[in-house]
Amino acid sequence: MSITEIVEKSGLKHIAFIMDGNGRWARERSLPREAGHKKGAETFKQIVRYCKKIGIDCCTVYAFSTENIKRPRHEVEAIFSLLLAYIEEASDEKDIEFRFIGEPAQLTENIGRKTKALEDETRGRPYRLNIALNYGGRAEIVNAVNELLRDGRESITEDDISSKLYTKGCPDPDLIVRTGNETRVSNFLLWQCAYSEFYFSEKMWPDFSASDVDLAVRDFAGRSRRWGGLDKK
Ligand code: FPP
Repeated sequence: MSITEIVEKSGLKHIAFIMDGNGRWARERSLPREAGHKKGAETFKQIVRYCKKIGIDCCTVYAFSTENIKRPRHEVEAIFSLLLAYIEEASDEKDIEFRFIGEPAQLTENIGRKTKALEDETRGRPYRLNIALNYGGRAEIVNAVNELLRDGRESITEDDISSKLYTKGCPDPDLIVRTGNETRVSNFLLWQCAYSEFYFSEKMWPDFSASDVDLAVRDFAGRSRRWGGLDKK
């Protein structure tokens, strides 16, 4: 069966990536950490295009957590430059609707303006890409609850919270892939991952490739998702 058929048959609509290992990839080559992020940004572009090509409707990537701002200034600035360079070329990605999830406008005024402009320009396109930027999963839930309080709500449902998350309009992720040989969730999509399948790759993100996506997708397709219930016999 082709990978596209496997995606379709398995019901995989939303894939998310924790792109970990850029720094170690660079260190293994005696390069500065920034070189790892540069290669990681190339990998990111290829993987997003590939996921779209094989028929996955929605992709979410963890580009910058709320904690990443504590890194040395030169590393943070290198990541911001890569991001801004990507935004410049991103309108060429014809089918992609971009969403920046998190609080990007709190990073810099320029990032706030450019991310918002790209969202406005690409609204309504068929394939959704969520880029988590200045993102924290707990903060996202607190933000959703505060919005509901501002709406005057006294009691709320799970659907109410989902409707106020940054990812609203996307199904919850079916599959979350973390590279870099780490097995943590790191404050990523905490509400949305309730029934996600997890796949951990030993590869560092800059080395991750389309064939690794295939491995993750085939692994996902072989899992039995029970959503807390029992297998259908
Ligand atoms: C985690 O690796 C990666 C990041 C904190 C940054 C991710 C950024 C990119 C892939 C490039 C820019 C993104 C876009 C959207 C253009 P790490 O630095 O924590 O690696 P380590 O655990 O090996 O130190």
